[in-house]
Amino acid sequence: MNKEKKEEILKTPKGMHDILPEEGRWWDKVRKATEKVTEFYGFQKIETPILEQAVLFSRTVGEDTDIVQKEMYTVKTKSGDTLALRPEGTASICRAYLEHSLSKAAPMQKFWYEGPMFRYENPQAGRLRQFHQIGLEVLGGVADPMYDAQVIIAMYRLLEDLRIKNITLRINSIGCKVCRPAYKRQLQAYYKNNLKKLCGDCNKRYKDNPLRLLDCKNEKCQPYKEDAPNFFDKLCSSCSTHLKSVLEYMDELGVPYILDNQLVRGLDYYSKTVFEFYAEGENSWALGGGGRYDYLMEMLGGKATPAVGGAFGVERIVETMKSQGVSLPERTPKKVFIVHVGDLAKKKALKIIEELRHAGISVTEALSKDSLKAQLKAADKEGAAIALILGQKEIFEGNIIIRDLKNSLQESVPTERMVEEIKKRLK
Ligand code: HAM
Repeated sequence: MNKEKKEEILKTPKGMHDILPEEGRWWDKVRKATEKVTEFYGFQKIETPILEQAVLFSRTVGEDTDIVQKEMYTVKTKSGDTLALRPEGTASICRAYLEHSLSKAAPMQKFWYEGPMFRYENPQAGRLRQFHQIGLEVLGGVADPMYDAQVIIAMYRLLEDLRIKNITLRINSIGCKVCRPAYKRQLQAYYKNNLKKLCGDCNKRYKDNPLRLLDCKNEKCQPYKEDAPNFFDKLCSSCSTHLKSVLEYMDELGVPYILDNQLVRGLDYYSKTVFEFYAEGENSWALGGGGRYDYLMEMLGGKATPAVGGAFGVERIVETMKSQGVSLPERTPKKVFIVHVGDLAKKKALKIIEELRHAGISVTEALSKDSLKAQLKAADKEGAAIALILGQKEIFEGNIIIRDLKNSLQESVPTERMVEEIKKRLK
């Protein structure tokens, strides 16, 4: 016998997930809150392609970063271009700003974006290969610490609006072109005699990106981090004043923070302020992070342009909301449930649904079910106020039954009066 081979059911690629309807309700909540906050603080929505030239990220995020070295999904096109699935949003927004000369529209502009990002990471809780970010960027104008504070406060308010508790904000300054080189040398001098005791990654960081020595999570490197030189003592006067001013804004706004001199971030484009948000007592991962990136536009061939921004990971926010017991709004039940008895009624039902749509009355059905009992049960489950029952007899008489699902009273009314009668009952 010729046994047909059964195809296996395919799954999403590792570290990537479907967002099914029930899960989607959490995402809607995050999206709605984001729209409110960004609207309030004057951020305009911007969308950029998911694929960009790979060089966009190697130039900005940094050739030596984990993101570019190990985590970027690259694609070679038929014409030989090397594109990358975006691992983050900031570089794309700056590319768009330069490409479309957006600075001409206004000296300073605020943008926000949402969408999937891709990093080839080792998937684990809160760490995915396709994840989603919500990001805010302030581009142009002057390098005013007030904008750092405004990005931070907008992000903080979003977490608050989502009822996330125990928010911890960590802030640091990683200096600028003036003061950072001397600090890096000092870090190298401090670590020099202990290189053999550090992990392999730190040995690499020591050479390529010494600031990242402070970001190592490896157990054996922790004791050395504790006594590492403190950047606060080495900041130039401009960076030191900038940091002080950002902190004063936070004090003024009543936003609590932890000054964390070991916070360095995993992307190379930052200067001065860097920050991260956590939900204390929950997971160890950051809900979001960001900072100032005054040199990024120059990395892309543009003029020196002050900029600051931050981004949240949506999956991490949703997980935190769930684990903290945040509730979702009750689903609004449809007002009307249409019940059919027989094939002819089923045919008419779709037309009635259209009439109700036209009248602005929400309606649903279980037309795949034939039994009256099963349909009424579904209507009950939906929480509808009214069932419209249509059978052979009603069709021939030009009527429809309106049944009040609260008290089970029902009445047969001429179909032309259906909308009017429903509206009366829904009042
Ligand atoms: P980031 O810290 O790399 O910064 O990412 C921001 C947030 O995205 C993280 O705090 C985290 O919530 C989420 N995230 C990152 N990687 C993953 C992952 N593999 N799985 C799940 N969630 C993840 C940036 O991307 C910068 N562009 C932020 C920024 C905007 N800086 C200035 N403007």
